[in-house]
Amino acid sequence: MTRRKTIRDIHRLYTDQTPITMVTAYDFTFARLVEKADLDIILIGDSLGNVIQGHDTTVPVEVDDIIYHTRAVMRGSHSAHIVADLPFMSYQASNDDGLRNAGRLLKEGGAQAVKLEGGETLAPMIERMTDAGIPTVGHLGLTPQSVHAFGGFRVQGRGDDAARQLLADARALEDAGIYLLVLEMVPTELAQRVTEALSIPTIGIGAGSKTSGQVLVIQDLLGMNSDFEPRFLKRYANLERTIVDALSTYGDEVRQHHFPNDDEHAY
Ligand code: KIV
Repeated sequence: MTRRKTIRDIHRLYTDQTPITMVTAYDFTFARLVEKADLDIILIGDSLGNVIQGHDTTVPVEVDDIIYHTRAVMRGSHSAHIVADLPFMSYQASNDDGLRNAGRLLKEGGAQAVKLEGGETLAPMIERMTDAGIPTVGHLGLTPQSVHAFGGFRVQGRGDDAARQLLADARALEDAGIYLLVLEMVPTELAQRVTEALSIPTIGIGAGSKTSGQVLVIQDLLGMNSDFEPRFLKRYANLERTIVDALSTYGDEVRQHHFPNDDEHAY
């Protein structure tokens, strides 16, 4: 019987120096495909605000959205470790909010852990979650929920002060109890310093090759949106082309009365 990976399995990959593979997914169909590809972690990211809901930012995403998509993913995935994002304003106003909403992602969504964006000021909340038995994942560097404060999506941690702060944040989050840290759009050398300074795995997205693992948004890595082309992205397929071609062919065949063929596709 398939067993779902736990935080201990993720830590074992790290101690064995096996790169950790993480990808986002938001529904049953993609979760099922991730299962077949045997990747380690599925993140139900608040990036669903962009790729599922069509917003420009992750700011509008609600806890109920994450719960809905986590439940769908759980039905398609049986072995990946499951992390769900705490969306904007589900934890920023108070530690009580954070604890309650993190609990909802586990109880109602079925996630094994929650991810939250931010530095050392989150340490008390992470301690409370850890005490309550809720595994937490940190997220530093470009934290998209703060896009308006950053003034856009840009590389973070450049310059000595910013790098020092990011390192201090990473250490504070580890001390507070996170078991995994996502580093988004930070220089490779800084990601390497953080990775070497911590005794928990780091997962990079636009953070170079020296982190303990990598994460990408599934629609991006499958090439489903040719308009989104950040430098860090590698497309492993061109599904946009494949899907548009298939849909156009379907449209043509229906219009020309070639589909359905009454010998093959009818009763
Ligand atoms: O929401 C998300 O998908 C993320 C990843 C890009 C790390 O936070």
